[in-house]
Amino acid sequence: MFLSKAVLIPFALLCLGQSSTLRAQSTLAATPPMGWNSWNHFAEHVTDADVRTAADLMVSTGMRDAGYIYVNVDDTWQGSRDANGELHPNSRFPDMKKLGDYIHSKGLKFGIYSSPGPKTCGGFEGSFGHEIQDAQMYARWGVDFLKYDLCSMQDPMRELTAKNNGNTDAAFKMMIDAYRKMGDALKATNRPILYSLCQYGIAEPWKWGPEVGAQMWRTTDDIDDTWGRMTIIGLEQADLAPFAGPGHWNDPDMLEVGNGHMTTDEYRTHMSLWALLAAPLLAGNDLSKMAPEDKGILLNKEVIAIDQDSLGKQATRLYQRGDFSVWTKPLANGKVAVGMFNTALDSRDVSLDLTQIGFTQGATLHDVWENKDLGRRSGLYSRNIPKHGAALLILSK
Ligand code: GLA
Repeated sequence: MFLSKAVLIPFALLCLGQSSTLRAQSTLAATPPMGWNSWNHFAEHVTDADVRTAADLMVSTGMRDAGYIYVNVDDTWQGSRDANGELHPNSRFPDMKKLGDYIHSKGLKFGIYSSPGPKTCGGFEGSFGHEIQDAQMYARWGVDFLKYDLCSMQDPMRELTAKNNGNTDAAFKMMIDAYRKMGDALKATNRPILYSLCQYGIAEPWKWGPEVGAQMWRTTDDIDDTWGRMTIIGLEQADLAPFAGPGHWNDPDMLEVGNGHMTTDEYRTHMSLWALLAAPLLAGNDLSKMAPEDKGILLNKEVIAIDQDSLGKQATRLYQRGDFSVWTKPLANGKVAVGMFNTALDSRDVSLDLTQIGFTQGATLHDVWENKDLGRRSGLYSRNIPKHGAALLILSK
């Protein structure tokens, strides 16, 4: 059958349109998502003005140009539903569409938060029973990112588990179905909305997250701004490397860098670990009060480049010896990023066996945090690492 030109051109346009939509979807989160989220600093006090100021500061501090693109409003923006079931923001957020437009006008993307349960963790309105309606509304507002937090859905899951004498299968299915429902609703909007699961690693979301349309999933319970919590989370990710890659990322939770309760060495450890883990980098600090050392950590180009490497490999732990561990992350250019972590309460002299990382003929070393070439080394590379500190190296042949 021959098709006339008049038919062929619209047909070609249709195909082009489809493939560009598909391309937009498949390149969503090609590297770990980067941005800022309101929760770790503002928590339930966040306002429209805070988010607009954060968007301004993302530009003026250089965060946007360093790759931090998403500006995400976390929990507590919601008001109540009207007679049509349409959800309205509360009085702290007068107009979400306008807020989204403002964020977009700064060359940034707009993120939002909800729950598959009737209530969010902060007790605000969730999306249960309104998934399609909410997804459509997000698309109208120009939302680019949804964090979907299990929260109150844990109640029916617990009831179901109790009814099934402790067997969690039905409860897990209920949860996965709920996440799929929102994933489908987001897809149906035809707007590329990055879908971020937050259910604290229950039922191994790294195994089913991609199937329900997610680009990232939390692997643990919440982080806080303490050395103890940050390292418990960061150093617990060793077995999850096979599940990370372009378009689908393990999320050990947002960054605490700059929130004031860790030392500079500890925040360097935090950032080094997250970069090696190819974790989403969602800053959670007050951008109006960034100390030079916090800027030095969050805006370090080489560290960001390790996180954002196009190969998308998550680091694995080469070994752990007492308080010292070594992690390696292969990079697209054939080099290897190496993290040396000292979790002890005092500084330590430690050594790295380069042959163990595959550099049997020696390697050229670059120290990322010191921004210093260390020249050729072979066999054992020894150095001192401060208490709770990290060294981040790039090794090449
Ligand atoms: C949960 C999430 C946090 C944050 C709060 C908001 O605890 O894990 O990241 O979103 O809810 O209530």
